[in-house]
Amino acid sequence: MLLRKLYVLVLLCSLSLSTPAFCSLEKARVPSRANIVEAVRRHDNKTLYHLLIRANHTITMADLHAYALSYNDAPLAEACDTVTAYTHNRLGISHTALVGLVLFFKTEGASEAGGKTTSFSSSSDIPWDVDYSAKTRNWYVIAKDQIANGHNKVLYRALRYNTHGLHLIACAVQDTSMPREGKYFARFGATRGVMRVYDVIHPHSRETHVFCKLYNQGSLGKTLKKANLSLTLYEKEVMCEQILEGLEAIHKTKTIHRDLKSLNLLVHIDVDADSRRITVAITDFGHGIPASRVRGERAQWNGNFYSPEAILFKDLSGEDYYKTDLFAAGCNLYQIFYGHDCPWADRQLVHNDSMSAKKRYSKLLHNLEAATNARRGVLEAKYALHTLTPREEFEYLVLTSVHPDPNKRQTAHDLRVWLEEIMKR
Ligand SMILES: Nc1ncnc2c1ncn2[C@@H]1O[C@H](COP(=O)(O)OP(=O)(O)O)[C@@H](O)[C@H]1O
Ligand SMILES: [Mg+2]
Repeated sequence: MLLRKLYVLVLLCSLSLSTPAFCSLEKARVPSRANIVEAVRRHDNKTLYHLLIRANHTITMADLHAYALSYNDAPLAEACDTVTAYTHNRLGISHTALVGLVLFFKTEGASEAGGKTTSFSSSSDIPWDVDYSAKTRNWYVIAKDQIANGHNKVLYRALRYNTHGLHLIACAVQDTSMPREGKYFARFGATRGVMRVYDVIHPHSRETHVFCKLYNQGSLGKTLKKANLSLTLYEKEVMCEQILEGLEAIHKTKTIHRDLKSLNLLVHIDVDADSRRITVAITDFGHGIPASRVRGERAQWNGNFYSPEAILFKDLSGEDYYKTDLFAAGCNLYQIFYGHDCPWADRQLVHNDSMSAKKRYSKLLHNLEAATNARRGVLEAKYALHTLTPREEFEYLVLTSVHPDPNKRQTAHDLRVWLEEIMKR
C-alpha cells in the first residue's frame, strides 16, 4: 500500500515537472504571426505553407486574406478563396492549416514532373497524411480520426483537392491481405450502384488507400433501422433500382460478389429545401471472385442472406452463383420494400453444423415458402390478368427476386429493366 502511494506521488511529481516543459515545446513549434506575415511579404510560399500547417489559430482567415491582398500574394489569396468556398470543413483541421495545405498542393504540384504518389504525416491536432495521384492529378488529405472500420480496413474522412476545389470524401486504409478488392474498386468505382471510387493508391507495400465517396448515412442496414426515415414508394424504387444496376454491372464482368448483406450497401441522402435524393451503392468486394473460379466455394458470407440452395453450395455450378448473389440482393430489396428484416432469415440454422446440409436446406426452403408463397401467388394471378397497381407490381418484382426456385428469380439485368418500366407508369 505504502509502495503504491509512493508510486502515485512520484508519478504526480514527474507529471507536474514535465507538463510545463511539454507546453513550452509545443508553443515553440507554433509559428508567430510575425513569421507568417514575413513569409507572405517575401512571397515565400514554401516557408509559408510549413508555417500555416502549424499555425494553430495564430492568425485568422480574414487577416491572412488581407495580408495576401496587401502584399499582392496571388497564390495565397487564391488558396484563401478555395478554403473559404469549402464550407463543409468537418475534418478537425483549421481553415488556416487548410490554406497551408492548398499552398503545398499548388507549390509541390507545380514542381512535380510526371509526379509519383507521395505520402507523409504531420504532427498537428489531428494527424493527417497526404497522398498525390499522378494518374488523376488529385491531392488527398486523410484526417486520421477513424469513422468506421472493417476486418482489414479503417475508414477516415478525407479531402480531395483538384482544379474544382476541395471536397469532403472518405478514405479506406486497408492492409494488403485482400489485393483483389482494390482491383474491383478500380474496376467498378464509376458504376452507378457501386461505391464511387476516385483513386486507389498504394503508398507503400503494406497499405492500400481507397479514396471514395463518403456515404453520409453509412450502411443500408443501419439506415433502415432509423425510425424517422419513412421512405416514399418512389424512393424505395430508386434504391432497389440502383442495387440491381450495381449487381448487373458486377455480374456482367463475370464476378460473383458473395457478401451482399445490408451492411455492405452504403446510403447517401442529399437534402434540398424541398426534396431529398437517395443514393445506394454496393461495396466490400472482400469475397468477390470470378465466376470461373467460384465452384466449390461458399456462396454467401452472411447466413441471413443465404438462399436455400446456397447451403448446398458444393453441388452448385459456377453459373448458379449468380442466382445466390441475386437472392442476397433480393433480401435487401425485401427489407427496403417492407421496412423489416426477412422473416425466413436464420443464420443459426444456415450455419448449424450438427444438422445435415440437406435438412438445413429443406428447413430454410420451407420457411421461405411459408413467408412468401401466398402473397406471391395472389400477385402472380393479378399479374396474369394485368390488374396489378404499380405498387403491387413492384412488390411482385421484390418477391420474384427472392423466389425459392433459383430459375424463377430472373437476372439483375431483367429485374432492373422491369423495375424501370414500373417506375415509368
Ligand atoms: N465510403 C463509405 N462511406 C461511409 N461508410 C462506409 C464507407 N465505406 C465503408 N463504410 C462503413 O464501414 C463498414 C465496413 O466497410 P466494409 O468495406 O464493408 O469493410 P469489411 O470488408 O471489413 O466489412 C461498412 O459497413 C460501412 O458502415
Ligand atoms: Mg463489410
